[in-house]
Amino acid sequence: MTTLEFRNVSKRYRLRGVKEGLLAVDDVSFRLEPGKTVALVGQSGSGKSTIAKLLLQLERPTSGQILLDDKPVERRGRGLRSYRSEVQMVFQDPFASLNPYHDIAHHLARPLRLHGHAQSAAEVEQAVHELLTRVRLTPPGEYAEKRPHELSGGQRQRVAIARALAPRPSILIADEPVSMLDVSIRLGVLNLLALLQRQENLGVLYITHDLATARHFSDEILVMYKGRIVEHGPADEVILNPQHEYTRRLAAAAPNPEERLKHLARP
Ligand SMILES: Nc1ncnc2c1ncn2[C@@H]1O[C@H](COP(=O)(O)OP(=O)(O)OP(=O)(O)O)[C@@H](O)[C@H]1O
Ligand SMILES: [Mg+2]
Repeated sequence: MTTLEFRNVSKRYRLRGVKEGLLAVDDVSFRLEPGKTVALVGQSGSGKSTIAKLLLQLERPTSGQILLDDKPVERRGRGLRSYRSEVQMVFQDPFASLNPYHDIAHHLARPLRLHGHAQSAAEVEQAVHELLTRVRLTPPGEYAEKRPHELSGGQRQRVAIARALAPRPSILIADEPVSMLDVSIRLGVLNLLALLQRQENLGVLYITHDLATARHFSDEILVMYKGRIVEHGPADEVILNPQHEYTRRLAAAAPNPEERLKHLARP
């Protein structure tokens, strides 16, 4: 059971010429738990990616605490290494996150070796094939040999998901994982994430602008506005009975999620 908690976390960026800087995240608290997906929604600039960067330890909180299993996260050495295997990320742009000069096998072999899940060449190959099969890139042998530019956007994002799973994390952060993909393949990738989430009992933070998919794919929704969480609750409740003015506007602006999603059963 791994839980990841944000406790009263704030992040102030220093800005040149602005004495007080910019408060990108303002006293935010929430918890990620195994088997649960939490959606983080909010307009551009509201602080969503800053929360992802703080969760990944790419930025330090100005105040507040990040706790893994109720213990403050260590920022160096073995503690940081084990944190990095527990908490993995899928980025918005799969092309930018893959190295164009290496084949897909290389991208997956590296974290497998690094985190000690495969050693010999044969073990690595088998583990790479398993990962590719799990993200539905089959036959895996064929995809393993390709380089990123030989894949479609959706296939690349599946590779990025496989890479994130390689260290066997318990928490997955997905920051706008489908917003750069063609609309026609977005749901396929989100369904895959939902399936893996259940198979692995992952705790997922799904960052998005899209209220309809936030509702469909999440248990809880956090609504962020200017650095603060202005609303937090079960997904249906937040959408059907929004309390905050900003959530109401978001819900009103979203295309009717019932209409868009009613043909989709949860996988
Ligand atoms: N490294 C940084 N230095 C200074 N300011 C930053 C830095 N990173 C982000 N910001 C500022 O912090 C605020 C929040 O940015 P953030 O990227 O978290 O927003 P977001 O909600 O992810 O937006 P989007 O939906 O456009 O991705 C913005 O005003 C942004 O300009
Ligand atoms: Mg962002």
